[in-house]
Amino acid sequence: MSASMQGKTVLITGATSGIGLAMARELAERGAHVTLVGRNSAKLATVAEQIRTQTGNPNIETILADLATHAGVQLTAHEFKRRRTRLDVLINNAGAIYMTRQVSPDGLEMTFALNHLNYFHLTNLLLDTLKATAPARIINVSSDAHRGQVIDFDNLQGEKSYSGWTVYGRSKLMNLLFTYELARRLTGKGVTVNAMHPGFVATGFGKNNGALMNLAMRLISPIARTAEEGASTGVYLACSAEVEGVSGKYFVDKQPVPSDPASYDQKTAERLWEISLEMIA
Ligand SMILES: NC(=O)c1ccc[n+]([C@@H]2O[C@H](COP(=O)([O-])OP(=O)(O)OC[C@H]3O[C@@H](n4cnc5c(N)ncnc54)[C@H](OP(=O)(O)O)[C@@H]3O)[C@@H](O)[C@H]2O)c1
Repeated sequence: MSASMQGKTVLITGATSGIGLAMARELAERGAHVTLVGRNSAKLATVAEQIRTQTGNPNIETILADLATHAGVQLTAHEFKRRRTRLDVLINNAGAIYMTRQVSPDGLEMTFALNHLNYFHLTNLLLDTLKATAPARIINVSSDAHRGQVIDFDNLQGEKSYSGWTVYGRSKLMNLLFTYELARRLTGKGVTVNAMHPGFVATGFGKNNGALMNLAMRLISPIARTAEEGASTGVYLACSAEVEGVSGKYFVDKQPVPSDPASYDQKTAERLWEISLEMIA
């Protein structure tokens, strides 16, 4: 039987497409109050209305914000706290790959800004609400693309050299370093944090990189999972009684699995934490 989410409040980023949209719909179906964060107001309104209609759940709210910016992350946390006093599940999902180096309005490399700093910043801004709601859960959507990567602190902004896939893989390694460091810091606080890999999923992923990447994604999409299949591990981490109290793990297909050895390096995690903290100060 599906675990109910009646009475639970969920905030999910990148909810206008792909895995985020599928997770939002499933959690709404189970009765959660769901706040969708997206950067495109028309898409956000359409998706929210679709979810209300498809699930019969009227409790779907939206926050419009560009999460690649400090201001957008701050606005999201501020607006959410203005509306709601509890947060049972935070799902950091918004992410992208940039095949050419791009810079955010704050002067940061875009993959770093969106895939890592956004997760770090938003979570830290919402931690007081999560702790006040405890037991509460944080889910960070990472990727198996983290495997084989190392963090290059001398080239964190990709200024010396840049490869889209490498920078993407490193950002997903950062998701794991952040997850494990946060789990250590949250011990005994009633808030768990886990990371997940959704599998290879046919979504809008990569579509911001021109016609060639678009075509490549379309060609390989027949072997990909559906967004619903990709969402299933995130939904499991959000709802299941089996993972109550489980923290600091990496899940693939609803199972905890070891991540790359580099992701367990505590010194690297602490260094990344301190650098990230300075960037959002
Ligand atoms: N697809 C895969 O095979 C795969 C595999 C492993 C991990 N992942 C991870 O899964 C997560 C979701 O990706 P997806 O595959 O579902 O891709 P997607 O369909 O492109 O969805 C990405 C979501 O992030 C949002 N987003 C992008 N930039 C944003 C910004 N600056 N501010 C706010 N929201 C922003 C997008 O908004 P718009 O709708 O406005 O574009 C969209 O809602 C990512 O973290 C990705 O790294 C995906």
